[in-house]
Amino acid sequence: DTEAAQASFDAIIEQDSRIEPRDWMPEGYRKTLTRQISQHAHSEIIGMQPEANWITRAPSLKRKAILMAKVQDEAGHGLYLYSAAETLGTPRDVMFEQLMSGKAKYSSIFNYPARSWGDMGAIGWLVDGAAICNQVPLCRASYGPYGRAMVRICKEESFHQRQGWEILYELSHGTPEQKQMAQDSVNRFYGPALQMFGPPDDESPNSQQSTAWNIKRFSNDVLRQRFVDMIVPQAEALGLTLPDPDLKWNEERGHYDFGELDWDEFFGVIKGNGPCNAQRLERRIEAHENGAWVREAAAAYARKQAEAAEA
Ligand code: ACO
Repeated sequence: DTEAAQASFDAIIEQDSRIEPRDWMPEGYRKTLTRQISQHAHSEIIGMQPEANWITRAPSLKRKAILMAKVQDEAGHGLYLYSAAETLGTPRDVMFEQLMSGKAKYSSIFNYPARSWGDMGAIGWLVDGAAICNQVPLCRASYGPYGRAMVRICKEESFHQRQGWEILYELSHGTPEQKQMAQDSVNRFYGPALQMFGPPDDESPNSQQSTAWNIKRFSNDVLRQRFVDMIVPQAEALGLTLPDPDLKWNEERGHYDFGELDWDEFFGVIKGNGPCNAQRLERRIEAHENGAWVREAAAAYARKQAEAAEA
């Protein structure tokens, strides 16, 4: 009965152990995980666009090969995550539909344009860096398929961050124009990267329950602070500055203080009003439509195989 099932679920959470797809789970747990994992999958897929934009313009064959591999990794991340989300019962087509109709959210960061080659560096260093900071704790999320997907994703994200760092390092040690390009990219991506961690804790409606269910391990603000503390010395090593006049070491707290972020901008972007929201969705719908023949061919092949197995 439900009471016994709930007690067994509670015991698994209490022991910090894992819930698997066949286990009973409260509807709210299923719902919030489907929400978070599908949003995460959508982010990976939409996140391919700003970087794919630079594949044809990468400055060398080597850079082009690296960038292509990276964008393909993002596609792979999206696929692991859709698979993990599907184990909770929502079919993939339904999740695609939610994305394409504009109903589902995806990370705010991917609604900003990638204007220069320097942005490939800033996206790798800051955006993938923030992603790792947020996602390493998710490797221990209580839902098994999500935690396991995150382990692989984090390994690949670490490589992505290193390649972004290396692009910025080369630029910042190049000509004055190249250094300026790197600085301009960091200036534009710094604030939006910090917003990837989500709204401030007192405006984060899902945090409390997600923490109680061992999905979230640290709050949005705690992870944001961890990220700032990590990137300040990295920016110094790069020879670049971070665009925040309030950024200052606080001896007492043992952390860097930083200025208030533009939360009006953030809420505008997640409502669909960022600089590239419309373009990102349009492009996704177009790619989905262009891929229809692949889905149809795969479905026809699967049908034939099943018929052959029955005969
Ligand atoms: N961009 C878009 N939406 C966001 C963002 C963001 N940066 N941050 C929070 N939100 C949304 C939440 O999804 C939630 O919306 P919903 O209730 O309609 O679903 C709302 O704002 C309120 O936020 P929270 O209550 O704090 O939401 P939550 O507890 O889910 O925390 C967080 C948000 C930290 C992003 C969490 O969902 C998470 O860790 N997700 C997995 C990581 C992820 O998705 N990363 C994607 C970018 S990284 C990459 O793809 C390279």
